[in-house]
Amino acid sequence: TATGPWDGLRVLVTAGGTREPIDAVRFVGNRSSGRMGFAVASAAAALGADVTVLAANVALGRDPRVTYVDVSSAADLEAACAEHFPGCHVLVMSAAVADFRPVDPAEVKLKKTGRDELTITMEPTPDILTGLAAGRRPGQTLVGFAAETGEGAVAYGRDKLVRKRLDAVVVNDVAQAGIGFDTPDNEVTIVTAAGEEHVARRGKDEVAAAILRTVDALRSASATP
Ligand code: C5P
Repeated sequence: TATGPWDGLRVLVTAGGTREPIDAVRFVGNRSSGRMGFAVASAAAALGADVTVLAANVALGRDPRVTYVDVSSAADLEAACAEHFPGCHVLVMSAAVADFRPVDPAEVKLKKTGRDELTITMEPTPDILTGLAAGRRPGQTLVGFAAETGEGAVAYGRDKLVRKRLDAVVVNDVAQAGIGFDTPDNEVTIVTAAGEEHVARRGKDEVAAAILRTVDALRSASATP
């Protein structure tokens, strides 16, 4: 069997964007392609890790070294995380999880006849990552993402690091053309308690490698001799 520096490490990655049903055929979604998460998963597999991806609506090619579990809604993702998180050493939460979902999705297709307006009442979804971080055990490394727009993005990321009790937050400015959602490139700032690393625009594979280097550094810093 292949050996690598991450041999024996169990890595859980969430990727893609959740879809929250409105009715039998419609949903509220977002533009996340899953590329960043899939790149992280493949990079970890290349290091020898045992990698599981919880994939929310991702239409990308799959890596034979990685195990994929398909999910759709935030509720599905939450259930899959509850199952897979306890056994993992590293969680990379790159999925774009809906912040709100329709309260009471219709089981049939809603009809347009007789309406000049349609109001969908939404409720907040649980913050999955915050819930997982609250129940984390020693030896688990948690990486979150922060898709922000414009100035103050890094400060928001740092706030998220503390508030959600994470080890690293990957901040990306999704307002910039050519990076972030549904593009092959990304430009991020990786925020940890120790400081910040800016990763200038490059392919998501290389950004994934930078994220994993940060995970490595965090894990060796916290390793008990
Ligand atoms: O607070 P914000 O949504 O910007 O946080 C982003 C991070 O939190 C991402 O890592 C995302 O996957 C995660 N998240 C989550 N559950 C939510 C919303 C976001 O786990 N309901």
